[in-house]
Amino acid sequence: MSAKKITVVGAGHVGATCSQLLAQKELAREVILVDIAEGIPQGKGLDQWESAPIEGFDTRVIGSNDYEQCAGSDIFIVTAGIARKPGMSRDDLLKTNAGVMSSVCSEIKRVAPKSIVIVVTNPLDVMAQVALETTGFPRERVIGMAGVLDTARYRSFIALELDVSIEDIQALVLGGHGDTMVPLASYTSVSGIPLSQLLAQDRIDALVERTRKGGGEIVAHLKTGSAYYAPAAAAVQMAEAIVKDKRRILPCAAWLQGEYGMSDLYLGVPCLLGANGLEKVIEVELDAEEKAALETSAEHVRSTVAALEALQ
Ligand code: NAI
Ligand code: 2OP
Repeated sequence: MSAKKITVVGAGHVGATCSQLLAQKELAREVILVDIAEGIPQGKGLDQWESAPIEGFDTRVIGSNDYEQCAGSDIFIVTAGIARKPGMSRDDLLKTNAGVMSSVCSEIKRVAPKSIVIVVTNPLDVMAQVALETTGFPRERVIGMAGVLDTARYRSFIALELDVSIEDIQALVLGGHGDTMVPLASYTSVSGIPLSQLLAQDRIDALVERTRKGGGEIVAHLKTGSAYYAPAAAAVQMAEAIVKDKRRILPCAAWLQGEYGMSDLYLGVPCLLGANGLEKVIEVELDAEEKAALETSAEHVRSTVAALEALQ
């Protein structure tokens, strides 16, 4: 199963890595890479297509500055905008990226009104709201990528700590995409064995803290930008779940409508992803401490939305 056309908006680090992965996995007949920078999407798209004979994929990768090329796309992965540099938080990107997101989403609405949008641009939860409002699409078709990445980081740190296969680690990270995210140790297991039986609480706490700061750890190393290999893999995993109608349960930013006692905000929660995009938000039981942490995270998202409204 594959889509006819998937467009990646933003041909930078995350976007170009997404298009390469989409093509290598043959998730669409055509992958369109769009950017405002002239020549960049064309050059990267052609370069990726020239890897097809070596990698053995038939997905055509086409770079463009023109949204007409994306008409009728089944899925858009939006990575356009500026990225963090050392000393910047995700929220520092707010005003610039809100402008980018709204101009990109106006084009998406025009050329592909039935598409599903996966938002990657930061600050993620607020940019997803801008995308929802600009496109006017239902919440099922505007989903934010953060939880898959944050959960992958958490799982990767647990695998290193225990020196076991990554394949056996199941975990869940909820909340907004920021330092207030909520990695749930109670929903973390290794081949069904609760993490608390394998690791002392102080080590679990350290891994949770490293996960919360995972984005900043990469920025501190790179100095010129933020992470892109794992973020692109995460966005493509969401696209794959949709394209193949896999009905996977993945942590994604969803527009809450009463779930977890909250409404009218994007927050990371377990989502069932299938052919229609967000098929269902899954509600899991949380203890008092976890509920309080989720509420703190939601409050941070609400305050960032308010900060954006004050800027406009
Ligand atoms: P980058 O700077 O490498 O690429 C951004 C691209 O967007 C550039 O090529 C730029 O020309 C393009 N762009 C800017 N305005 C545009 C417009 N109006 N239309 C089309 N293209 C436009 O940045 P990178 O590293 O690819 O990151 C992209 C975004 O993704 C950032 O906001 C970053 O913070 C976010 N991000 C989010 C993650 C998440 O978990 N949600 C993880 C990693 C990155
Ligand atoms: C990350 O978590 C910057 O949000 C991006 O790596």
